[in-house]
Amino acid sequence: MALASNSPKADIEAKISYHEGWKESFSVVIGGDEVMTGKPSPEIFLEAANRLKIEPSNLLVIEDSVPSVTAGKAAGMEVVAVPSLPKQTHLYNSADEVINSLLDLRPEKWGLPPFQDWIEGTLPLEPWHIGGPIIHGFGRGSKLLGIPTANLSTEGCSDLLSEHPSGAVYFGWAGLSARGIYKMVMSIGWNPYFDDKEKTIEPWLLHKFDEDFYGEELRLVIVGYIRSEANFPSLESLIAKIHEDRDIAERALDLPLYAKHRDDQYLKMP
Ligand SMILES: Cc1cc2nc3c(=O)[nH]c(=O)nc-3n(C[C@H](O)[C@H](O)[C@H](O)COP(=O)(O)O)c2cc1C
Repeated sequence: MALASNSPKADIEAKISYHEGWKESFSVVIGGDEVMTGKPSPEIFLEAANRLKIEPSNLLVIEDSVPSVTAGKAAGMEVVAVPSLPKQTHLYNSADEVINSLLDLRPEKWGLPPFQDWIEGTLPLEPWHIGGPIIHGFGRGSKLLGIPTANLSTEGCSDLLSEHPSGAVYFGWAGLSARGIYKMVMSIGWNPYFDDKEKTIEPWLLHKFDEDFYGEELRLVIVGYIRSEANFPSLESLIAKIHEDRDIAERALDLPLYAKHRDDQYLKMP
């Protein structure tokens, strides 16, 4: 595995030194100051292939910017693009695949060994927490879809959200102070089917409630990832997919790996 960046080598080394195990993960690290022309020229990738002693056509490039995708293709490599800006997929036409986040990378599609950490259709995450009063969404959830989501505001949590991919379906546990702790499956993103302009946080609490509870404090511990948000040819197929997500989350949350987070202190409000 090689790291090839237009940044100067010293900057790359300084940056990766903050992350335990990263330096050791790469057998080759090349900086922009070690080649004549940076990306979009293919030179840096060809130099990486040379140092790895692997044919360029046997290498898979994973990149986030358009010039870098151009460079990878010009080097004769396969390229997976992970755009750093949302809703920019159309700019990455020359890539072999465009994915929403690194959580969607499937090495086995490229003849590489699969990741070992997926379990029953879910990817365990280092748990993260988010909470606030329940707000009104666009009102489509319960009326149009039969899926009543208890939305949270994105205001004040942009830092937290920037640490985790948006345009994604997650699951975990939800705590409501006056009621209890429930299983939960959620989307965070722009709901491609509705092409929303604003990002929303939409947890679906997997329990039959008899009344609305707007304004109540909701706390979430997010423990796993299921898939990227997608567009669908019909409302029925969107609903079917969300029901599939629910079934996956229901089952997964019974596994000890996820079930233990039901006891997370964050869910138990004073
Ligand atoms: C588990 C889950 C998965 C979802 N996946 C998608 C998706 O893939 N694409 C999409 O457009 N919307 C997705 N949604 C969002 C629904 O479209 C959304 O909840 C609906 O627009 C209701 O919006 P409202 O609460 O603002 O009324 C998902 C919602 C949930 C709860």
